[in-house]
Amino acid sequence: MNGPLNISKNTDKAYQAKYDAAIQALTYIDNNMRVGLGTGSTANIFIDLLGDKVKTENLNIHCVATSDESAKRALAVGLSLLPDAYTDYLDIAIDGADEFDNQLRLIKGGGGALLREKIIAQATKNFIVIADDSKYVDTLGAFPLPVECVYYELKMIFKNLEVIFNRYADSSAPEFIPEFRKKRKNDINTDNNNVFLTNLGHSIIDLDLKTITDPENLAYDLQNIAGIVEHGLFLKEANIILTDNRVLNK
Ligand code: 5RP
Repeated sequence: MNGPLNISKNTDKAYQAKYDAAIQALTYIDNNMRVGLGTGSTANIFIDLLGDKVKTENLNIHCVATSDESAKRALAVGLSLLPDAYTDYLDIAIDGADEFDNQLRLIKGGGGALLREKIIAQATKNFIVIADDSKYVDTLGAFPLPVECVYYELKMIFKNLEVIFNRYADSSAPEFIPEFRKKRKNDINTDNNNVFLTNLGHSIIDLDLKTITDPENLAYDLQNIAGIVEHGLFLKEANIILTDNRVLNK
């Protein structure tokens, strides 16, 4: 199974909505902040806008990026990056999402950066999600849930994942597919079989559960499988979502 693509349904309208959310996110940035930068098309817009803001207002801002791609982009627009492994806190982090619900629970990881994204989201005082409103859902799960695994004894990990899948999948979900996400057009890291590898060298399986009615217990069960490094359920991290010129708060 190929992983979900980051292609918007209505490009122009969706782009404008992402742009509006990113502009709104800029208003949360103050001088001397340490800022976490997300990954994906919405986060990219924010990175570009932040680069402009820092330049025009001559701000002292330092950033940490959630992917090599975002780091590259940040440097290209003149943002300063803190060295990996030496940052103990962030003032704010701005990132996109693949889905969100009205309790500010998210699915993330469509771009394969979920592990770094969750580390950053948990390290910051203020985790702000920017998203066009096509990402809003009543119930999480239509977007296949990315689960990041170590690249070792994959069949053993699949067996455990299948048990979890069968416990939580909606009756409308397809059967469990024991395959890792394949490399997509712009992905750089792969193994010899064209399996997508994250920046940290892990593989991802996308669980097409269709409807996740109990995300808290699903998250708990996934965390208990050896070999699973992280999953794309961000249930407590977001405190603000900026979407469709609205601010959703906890
Ligand atoms: C990457 C992510 C992204 O935030 C998510 O995929 C949304 O991307 P986009 O802004 O391109 O729709 O979680 O791992």
